Amino acid sequence: MEKTELKIRIFGDPVLRKKSTEIKAITLRYREVLSQMAQLMYESDGIGLAAPQAGINEAMIVIDAGSGLYKLINPKIVKVGGSQVNQEGCLSVPGLCIKVRRANKITVKALDEFGKPLNIQAEGLLACVFQHEIDHLKGKLIVDYASFLEKIRIKKTLEGFKKRVKHEKLSESEAKSCKLQL
Ligand code: NI
Repeated sequence: MEKTELKIRIFGDPVLRKKSTEIKAITLRYREVLSQMAQLMYESDGIGLAAPQAGINEAMIVIDAGSGLYKLINPKIVKVGGSQVNQEGCLSVPGLCIKVRRANKITVKALDEFGKPLNIQAEGLLACVFQHEIDHLKGKLIVDYASFLEKIRIKKTLEGFKKRVKHEKLSESEAKSCKLQL
C-alpha cells in the first residue's frame, strides 16, 4: 500500500465507486492508516469513515457513534434483523440528507487492527453506521437509496460535485447540512 495523504474524497471521485479488496496481511502500515482515518473522521465531525472516502480501496472502516472508537478490517455483516429509517448524510456527498431504510440489529464479523477476530452486535444508530460504512466498501453511496423523485431533486447538487476542484474545502453549511455525517 502506498503512502497516502488522507483527504475526504467527494462524489465523482472514482475511488468511491470501486469495490475494496480484502486485507490479507495486517501490517503496521494498516494500523497507521486506521489512526489517520480516525483522525480525519474526528476532524470532519463524522461518526464513521470508510477507507475509500480517504482514497484507499482496501476494506477498513472507523466508527465512533458515541460508544467508543472501532477500527476494523474486513468487516462483514453476518446477521440482520428488524428495520429502521434515518436521514443519513455522508462526508463524501456533502449537502445531502437521504432517507435510508436499514436493518435495526446486526452482527458484524471483522478483525481488529492486530488481526484479532471480532464479533460485534449493534443496534439502532450504531447498526446504521456500520451498514453505511460497509456499503462504502462495496462502492455504494446514500444517493443509491434515493427515490425517483429525490434523484431528480439532487441531480443539480451531484452535477456540481463533478465540476468542483478536487479536495476543495466544503462550505460550513454543506458540512453541517445533515446531523448524521458518515
Ligand atoms: Ni459515507
